[in-house]
Amino acid sequence: MMTIRMPDLYNRVSQIIPQPDWMLFEDDIEAIFMLKREKNAVILAHNYQTPEIFHGVADIVGDSLALAREAARVEADVIVMAGVHFMAETAKLLSPKKTVLIPDMRAGCSLADSITPANIAQLREAHPDVPIITYVNTSAAVKAASDICCTSGNAVKIVESLGVPKVLMIPDGYLARNVARETDVEIIAWNGTCEVHELFTPEDVRGMRESWPGVTILAHPECPPDVVAEADFAGSTAAMSDFVGDKKPARVCLLTECSMSDNVAVNHPEVKFIRPCNLCPHMKRITLGNIREALEKGHHEVTVDPAIAADARRSVERMLEI
Ligand code: 13P
Ligand code: SF4
Repeated sequence: MMTIRMPDLYNRVSQIIPQPDWMLFEDDIEAIFMLKREKNAVILAHNYQTPEIFHGVADIVGDSLALAREAARVEADVIVMAGVHFMAETAKLLSPKKTVLIPDMRAGCSLADSITPANIAQLREAHPDVPIITYVNTSAAVKAASDICCTSGNAVKIVESLGVPKVLMIPDGYLARNVARETDVEIIAWNGTCEVHELFTPEDVRGMRESWPGVTILAHPECPPDVVAEADFAGSTAAMSDFVGDKKPARVCLLTECSMSDNVAVNHPEVKFIRPCNLCPHMKRITLGNIREALEKGHHEVTVDPAIAADARRSVERMLEI
């Protein structure tokens, strides 16, 4: 009979990963531990990564804002981004001397794909003198053409920090409208959407309340505004996780990507998670197997064109200062 080689690690995740599945992961996890030491590498993992990555091999986990902050201060030669491409690019901007790897170059984002620097130029022409705030879910080229970045964790604060009556907020139209409900600053939005969060509907929320009376419903601000309006709380992935830790609702439903509930549930076994969720196909391109391969072969290296790097870095650093 096969035995578990890493019982302490497995005990942490045993409520969400069946033992036979875990056994299939152990070879890769052991190899990744060794490779990290050998290459002086760290793994940064977003909250949407699968539990065997998030709880098994990641050194630093968090929302986009936390990953950007940590990329700037982490000490290592190599950063492996277990997340999507814009997160790896942001890490490279903030840690230009480190090698930044993404295990699958195809890990993109529908929001990042929804806007180009040419679109920004059109917006500048149509709205001269209105500052452009770009969500971090964009390419480095779009960040370079914008004035400042924001994440879902600091969007209201960034909007209000500029001290102007009107801003452009790109590319997530729903995030922009959700932020507009919380500030007096006028917000002009772009029409990008997150292909994961746009699928939630107010009917989902009502159906859940009917099936699970008393359930606490948390929504990511990339959800449509009528969904956020019916939820009990809206916030970034880190804010949702903190909400569960602070309030410990008896039953909770996170309207966001599927792995999020698994990852948060590990730390809160007393909370019951109701799990209607949507998968992000981009986040799911990252696996233990391709993280191991990235470390073994040093691929796929993420670089940023020097012609745009300084301007893109300025947009991200301006955000981090606030
Ligand atoms: P957070 O910044 O809240 O982690 O969100 C990132 C993301 O891609 C959500 O879809
Ligand atoms: Fe992009 Fe949405 Fe996936 Fe986040 S969940 S990476 S916003 S497609």
